[in-house]
Amino acid sequence: MKKTSINLIILFAVLCIFGCNKKENQSKTHPTSMENIQISEYGVTSKGDSIKKFTLTNKNGMKVEVINFGGIITSLTAPDKNGKYEDVVLGFTRPEDYFNGNSYYFGALIGRYGNRIANAKFTLEDKTYEVDKNDGPNSLHGGKEGFHTKFWNIEPVKDAKFPTLKLTYTSADGEEGFPGKLTTTVFYTLTDDDALEISYEAETDKPTVVNLTQHSYFNLSGNFTKTILDHELQINADKFLPVNETLIPTGEQKAVKGSPFDFTVSKPIGKDINADDDQLKKGKGYDHNWIPNGSGLRSIAKVYHPESGRVMEVLTDEPGVQFYSGNFLDGKFETKTGGKNELRTGFCLETQHFPDSPNQPSFPSTELKPGQKYQSKTIYKFSVKK
Ligand code: BGC
Repeated sequence: MKKTSINLIILFAVLCIFGCNKKENQSKTHPTSMENIQISEYGVTSKGDSIKKFTLTNKNGMKVEVINFGGIITSLTAPDKNGKYEDVVLGFTRPEDYFNGNSYYFGALIGRYGNRIANAKFTLEDKTYEVDKNDGPNSLHGGKEGFHTKFWNIEPVKDAKFPTLKLTYTSADGEEGFPGKLTTTVFYTLTDDDALEISYEAETDKPTVVNLTQHSYFNLSGNFTKTILDHELQINADKFLPVNETLIPTGEQKAVKGSPFDFTVSKPIGKDINADDDQLKKGKGYDHNWIPNGSGLRSIAKVYHPESGRVMEVLTDEPGVQFYSGNFLDGKFETKTGGKNELRTGFCLETQHFPDSPNQPSFPSTELKPGQKYQSKTIYKFSVKK
């Protein structure tokens, strides 16, 4: 072989190695995940905290907006059958309405204990704790000053594959009556297949109870003046938890078969909502925990809005999901698309452990001990059906 050909082969090999390395480096760092997070001023709370809005955008143009007050998702867009991305989560039009109460828990991170604790009391390792009683005799969503009212530290995650936010909040020992200093971390990731992935982590320095969830209300029509009764819902659950008058589970795990609670085959939310049924009366509609079949990260529910073609699938590793049909929406606030937030203009699918678990030994435990790590994951994935 001639010297020049040998030189050419060596040059080619060197270029190839350099090229391969470059490619490897590119897949290790993901500069685009940072470029796809915009930070802007959102508002100032009455305590003087300056609230920022973080906008995540994926390659399709889907956007999720999150604020560092309550970890609230203020906007989330999803495609319709014509490829149009529109906001599909309920929310206020004025920042101060999030800061001053947010009694609907619009878009918020919920903690320490999502859902209800009976009589706002529980016993852990022989000690009885009284937590904030903010819902009749019970405690709801971690108390009046739960995680939905807190200032969360938010950092974009540098080396993530997709735009990701890391939210942290440390809850002091005794906050809202709960024992132990609890350090909570939540990751919001917007993937390129139009999914919002939410990962929760928590650690404590004393035995405590934890049940974290996300309280976004969805209306897949993109028009918040319309009700969600025409949305078709499927929940992969053969059983649900009947409740008493104050929405505390009775302890029974009841088969859905033959009842208005049977969503094993997709049906419009409005189909049976006004049926003459004691449980529907107690909930003023659907406001119950279903027990999705199976365990581990699995698909537990699907919602389809026929007019727009929008589909939302919910995956979680949690044992329960609260399907709430917006029964307490009362038309007091203006929506982002005009009109008022009338009854049943949004629904929630809140993935979680069962309500009142600290008082119900037959339910999966919500106890967290020092040295243990609470971990849970939920995915809301959007697509279209034509
Ligand atoms: C509960 C409802 C409650 C609502 C507050 C839901 O998670 O199940 O009973 O009224 O949150 O917005």
